[in-house]
Amino acid sequence: MCFPPGFLWGTATSAHQVEGGNEQNQWWAWEQQPGRIWKGDRSGLACDWWRRAEDDLALAAEMGQNSHRFSIEWSRIEPQKGCFDDRPLERYRRLITRMHELGLEPMVTLHHFTNPQWLEDQGGWLNPEAVERFARFVERAVTALGDGVRLWCTINEPAVYALLGFIEGDFPPGLHSPLQALRVLRHLLLAHAEAYRVVHRLQPDAQVGTVNHIHLFDPARASSPLDRWVASALDGIFNAGPLRAAVDGRLRFPLTWSNRRVAALVNSCDFIGINYYTREMVAFDLRRPADLFGRRFYAPGAEHADISRRDDFGDIYPEGLYRCLRAYAGLGKPLYVTENGWPDAADVHRPRALLSHITQLWRAMAEGAPVRGYYHWSLIDNFEWAEGWSQRFGLIAMDPVTQARRLRRSAELYAAIAHGNGITKELVEQYAPEAMARIFEY
Ligand code: GAL
Repeated sequence: MCFPPGFLWGTATSAHQVEGGNEQNQWWAWEQQPGRIWKGDRSGLACDWWRRAEDDLALAAEMGQNSHRFSIEWSRIEPQKGCFDDRPLERYRRLITRMHELGLEPMVTLHHFTNPQWLEDQGGWLNPEAVERFARFVERAVTALGDGVRLWCTINEPAVYALLGFIEGDFPPGLHSPLQALRVLRHLLLAHAEAYRVVHRLQPDAQVGTVNHIHLFDPARASSPLDRWVASALDGIFNAGPLRAAVDGRLRFPLTWSNRRVAALVNSCDFIGINYYTREMVAFDLRRPADLFGRRFYAPGAEHADISRRDDFGDIYPEGLYRCLRAYAGLGKPLYVTENGWPDAADVHRPRALLSHITQLWRAMAEGAPVRGYYHWSLIDNFEWAEGWSQRFGLIAMDPVTQARRLRRSAELYAAIAHGNGITKELVEQYAPEAMARIFEY
């Protein structure tokens, strides 16, 4: 299974999860509060990337990767409202230069879940002023870094930010208010559109994308119209609505009552980034109005990676990647898989999962999906938000106490895929012989 020449094979990370010492954002404050993070974990030094990202990126390059997706930390660049600090921008410039030397095309995310504490203190993304403040930050960052960056992502997973912070309460600010979640999501989408325009004003040739988490919801009983209805409602609200808004400009119900079209949002992306992890089954259940009348669970007998505290990680479901890519292939925009991975400390499931998902990626492309790159989440074990250090997503295992690194077997496998620009029978034989028939069925 060969991929086209120039296909991007990368990994993804985010600033707060790897840099360490991000003391001026709202996550740092959240981590200090008892009971917020599983087992009281904290990001602390994280992977110490503020000082040593280059060492791990050199490993990525040795593994044959030709791109890396990472985020820049707003709270470092604008630690006080309106006061910008050029030193962190200088640090990011050096990092980007080094990435080019290593043959890694940088893909830079402008917002990945973290806000400066001063923004949070004035209401965060509930406050409409956040949109304009974000646009100013973007202007500053793109002016400083733009000559080394062609690929930008605006806001990582706006629906996840709104859901976890404002409905489920696991992310700061820990609220349980669907109305506030919708307000935040609207502001994030408007900020995405602003960022798109700012980057293009400064850098007309840049490629600017929207990045959405696509969580598949399947009806528990395909024959039940109610199960089908609830699965498709969840898909519309969480997946398709925010993603399509950046193409056709529509804020659909429940974001607005009128399915209003916002001029700035129309055609506000040059590519679509898809973060795909898992799917759930959904059954209609009248006793769950707060969950939109949907009871969610994993498909019986599904394969799981490491289960999280919230037990929400779900199936390893490779075909889901194919389905996501097919679902959005017709929007007229190039696609990138901007995240895909599994928490699997022992690396028991990951080799097979990696081969199976990349097979499904190849299948979608063979049927015409315009996919330009794949970014595995993640290069290295990192601080997994409310789950702390309990979930290990890295190709490289990392001990946050000693900072010691060790390549997992999956790192070798991913290196072979990237070096060979595809999957061979020999690779499957070596890493997941039991999956041979399934993988070469297409
Ligand atoms: C995504 C998120 C990442 C990472 C990943 C693994 O939703 O963008 O930051 O945490 O999930 O759970």
